Amino acid sequence: MDKKVETGPGKVQGRTNGPNSGYYTNEIPPHDPLLTETGPGTPCGEFMRRFWHPVCLSIELTDTPRFLKILSEELVAFRDKSGQVGVLHAHCCHRGASLEYGIIQERGIMCCYHGWKFDVDGRCLEVPAPKGEEAEGERFASKIWQGAYKALERNGLVFAYMGPPEEEPPFPNWEDGFTVHPDDELVPYSNHQHCNWLQVQDNSADQYHHVPLHTTAVVPGHEQGTTFGEAGAAPYLVRPDLQFFPVHDGKAMAWTSSRRVDENKIFIRVNQQVLPDLSFHSYLFETGEDRKLFSRIHMIRWSVPVDDVNSKMIGWRVVGPNLDPRGIGEARRHMIGYETIDFLDGQTAMRRPERFGKYRNEPVPPIPPNHRERSCYKDAQYAPGDYEAVVSQRPIAVHALENPMKADGGVYLCRKMLRDAITGDNPKASPAAFREWFEEMDGKPKAYCSGNILEVPEGETLAEEVERRRVVAKQVIKATAAGNELDGDERQKFMEKSLTGIEQRNR
Ligand code: FES
Ligand SMILES: [Fe+2]
Repeated sequence: MDKKVETGPGKVQGRTNGPNSGYYTNEIPPHDPLLTETGPGTPCGEFMRRFWHPVCLSIELTDTPRFLKILSEELVAFRDKSGQVGVLHAHCCHRGASLEYGIIQERGIMCCYHGWKFDVDGRCLEVPAPKGEEAEGERFASKIWQGAYKALERNGLVFAYMGPPEEEPPFPNWEDGFTVHPDDELVPYSNHQHCNWLQVQDNSADQYHHVPLHTTAVVPGHEQGTTFGEAGAAPYLVRPDLQFFPVHDGKAMAWTSSRRVDENKIFIRVNQQVLPDLSFHSYLFETGEDRKLFSRIHMIRWSVPVDDVNSKMIGWRVVGPNLDPRGIGEARRHMIGYETIDFLDGQTAMRRPERFGKYRNEPVPPIPPNHRERSCYKDAQYAPGDYEAVVSQRPIAVHALENPMKADGGVYLCRKMLRDAITGDNPKASPAAFREWFEEMDGKPKAYCSGNILEVPEGETLAEEVERRRVVAKQVIKATAAGNELDGDERQKFMEKSLTGIEQRNR
């Protein structure tokens, strides 16, 4: 009665080849705890705690404290009346009442239960005591600290550093990403995902899904591909040729999606993931009509663990005429915010019609408890998006059951880089190495991300064409690595010259 099943990446599982053989695979192996569990004391959780992560939107900080769960820790975030932002452990260190019911003060927050007051760094400012026992209150106040994490705000996002204070890295103000062209703007958004953080992060390295998932979704009453078609992104309808490149000594991965636009033009899109949970995405609404050299970042996002079975996709969209001269993002700007995003539907738990908060700052209904208990469930079945694909991989995806293809190479490379960073097998991706790198770069590392429409003619044969796409993509990565040594205009000019040279070499 042996029911042994061989599982693992790349292996055809035991007896799954035969017809009606579900019985032999009805036992689900465990998830990979090393990469997916991020609570206090876990290896991945300890790794992640040594980086800055966004924890909520600035608009979530109102006149009442905001309850949050991040990395499985219960927290409250608030802005006191003097403007300081605090991120504290939710449960008061006196007797555990949650500070989400606390009262925001001129300085800090006061617990609702017995009135203990805490500053944004956790310092106890006051312990009210009965008359005649004031000395005891003062004694307590002078030595008690509420658990707190250093916080800061950037362009509508609240970031926290949840690791040991002595290991705090500089805030990595990525040079192009966080300091966009003066005509453009970073617009913040946050979308809850009912699944483990890693599958949200895996999704950004999984570029092959663009075609099957995003062009076959037919919303009743709409034409196929309406969501992208509206933006005129015809090149996305072409299956990409993908290549993956470890960069920055295994701290990050850049990858190229190469697509033929027409017989004279090729579209080379370069995106990037950075350990542990950051990614950069280049222009999403590309038409491929005009030659384009080194257009920069369109989306910056983090896949932040809420707990092991929930996460949030939180970051910025870049809106403005420099990146997006047709103004597509500007026209859809009201769709970017809390539980809403401007491109495609199926990015968030709630579909557009049921989100009263279609304008930023408006209240939205509470986030549903899971993906099957949504009033839009059936609509989502008709037209699934990234949210549906990713959260339905199980609350924590089971890697041992996957059968990866070559196009999944980016997902597997990033997981390996993460594993090597966590275990110490790649000391150049340790938190200390990241910290040193950010310090050396003055907190401003460079992203590989870019969008390029190059005048490179089609190969005579399919084999020649495939070879040409790969060669050109490799040359773009090589040029970007060299360009990353330069800054600002000098870098832009260098890239334009290098990309022109690539065009000439591939004619
Ligand atoms: S529980 Fe917070 S002051 Fe007592
Ligand atoms: Fe997608």
